Amino acid sequence: MTPAAALAVKNAFTPEQEKALVAWTKKYPYTNLGLIEALRSVQDWHRQMTPAAAARVAEIFNLPFSHVWGVATFFPTYTHWKTGEKRVGICRGLTCYLAGSDKMEKCLEKTLGVPKKKATADGKFSWEPMECLGACEQGPALQVNDRLVGKATEESILKLKDMK
Ligand code: FES
Repeated sequence: MTPAAALAVKNAFTPEQEKALVAWTKKYPYTNLGLIEALRSVQDWHRQMTPAAAARVAEIFNLPFSHVWGVATFFPTYTHWKTGEKRVGICRGLTCYLAGSDKMEKCLEKTLGVPKKKATADGKFSWEPMECLGACEQGPALQVNDRLVGKATEESILKLKDMK
């Protein structure tokens, strides 16, 4: 590891964030059980997962980097691109696809002005297709930061821009 990379790992988190990550190592009888939630916190703080952050988590959990990075690259919850503050998900599961999610993807791109998996210039929004959100009856289902918004329509997508 280069000195710059080592510094990035060392400075990946604030002291408060470090404390929160250490707390996840103690929450469950087995240290590893807190890893998913710790990584979730990292995603929330940084709006993305970087190798430096994962390496610091590996140190805190006393796990090999390859293990932590394997988890961080397996679940779509963790992104390797920076999400917007409002992370918009449009379901592309079969039911939602049949209900027109591909058209709503185009609408999101046009309304937010960015392609999928890219944050707007002000960092406020990003959007991405997601797998079944468990709300097939509301297809095409739309969510913002893990909260279901309901059926995606041109109107509901336009309203996203008014979200605080
Ligand atoms: S297929 Fe879209 S919510 Fe289930």
